[in-house]
Amino acid sequence: MKIVAINGSHKGKAGNTNIMVTAFLNGAQTAGAETVNIFLDEKEIKHCRACKACWFNSSERCVIKDDMAEIISLMEGADILILATPLYFDNISSMLNVFMDRLMVKASPYWEKDKDGECRHLTTHLFPKLIMISNCGYPERSHFQVISHWMRRVARNMSTEVIGEIYASQGTLLSNKVEELRPIISKYLQGLEKAGREIVTDMRLSEGTKKLLEQNFISDEIYIQEVKKFADNMLKK
Ligand SMILES: Cc1cc2nc3c(=O)[nH]c(=O)nc-3n(C[C@H](O)[C@H](O)[C@H](O)COP(=O)(O)O)c2cc1C
Repeated sequence: MKIVAINGSHKGKAGNTNIMVTAFLNGAQTAGAETVNIFLDEKEIKHCRACKACWFNSSERCVIKDDMAEIISLMEGADILILATPLYFDNISSMLNVFMDRLMVKASPYWEKDKDGECRHLTTHLFPKLIMISNCGYPERSHFQVISHWMRRVARNMSTEVIGEIYASQGTLLSNKVEELRPIISKYLQGLEKAGREIVTDMRLSEGTKKLLEQNFISDEIYIQEVKKFADNMLKK
C-alpha cells in the first residue's frame, strides 16, 4: 500500500500538523506501507490559471512550470492521500487550497450524475482514498465542521471516499515542552501510530482509536487560562 501525505502547514516540518502526520505515517510504515511525506512550504506551487489546458491540450499536463509536476508524479500509484492542514480561519490553509486547485489535472472534463442526482467529474483516473489530519488552537471540536464537510464534498466530486478524519483541538499543546504534558501527548501520538497501522490493515479506524484521538489533552478551563498567561507574557516582552 502506498500512502502520500500532503502537509499544508505554513510551518512545515516545525509545525504541530507534522507531529500528527509523522506519528500516523510511522504507524503505517510499521504495518508495511510505503509512505511519502510532502511539505508544501518547501515547494513552489503557483495558482491554477483556470486555462483548462490540462483538460483540452494534447499533453494532458499543466502548462505551469513549478513543483506541482514532481508532486503529481510522487502521487502516482497512491492508494491513500492524506491531506494535512492546520485550521486557518475555520478552514484549510491557503497553501493546501492552492495545491487542491492544481489537482484539476486529475479531474475529467466530462461530468456524470452521482446516485443522489448531483453532478461530479466522470471517473477516468482512480483517485486515492482520502484521510484528513488537522489541528487547531481552540479547544472545541466544532471548529473542524467546515474542514470535515469540505473533505466529504471533495471525495464525492472525485468519486472517492474519506476513510479517516483525525482532528486535534488544543493542537498548540502538541509541541509544548511542559513536563506534565509529555505523557499525555505521548499517549496521543501512540494513538496516532495505532491509527496508521489500522488504516493499512483494515482501511478504517477502530471505534476505540477514534475515541482516543477525540479526547482533549487538558480541561478547557486550564487551557484557556494557560493561553491567556502565554499571551500576557508575550505582550510584556
Ligand atoms: C492564520 C491563522 C489562522 C488560524 N485560525 C484558527 C482558527 O480559525 N481556529 C483555531 O482554532 N485555530 C486557528 N489558528 C491556530 C492554528 O490552527 C494552530 O496554531 C495550529 O496548531 C497550527 O498548526 P501548525 O503548527 O502545523 O501550523 C490559526 C493560526 C493561524 C496562523
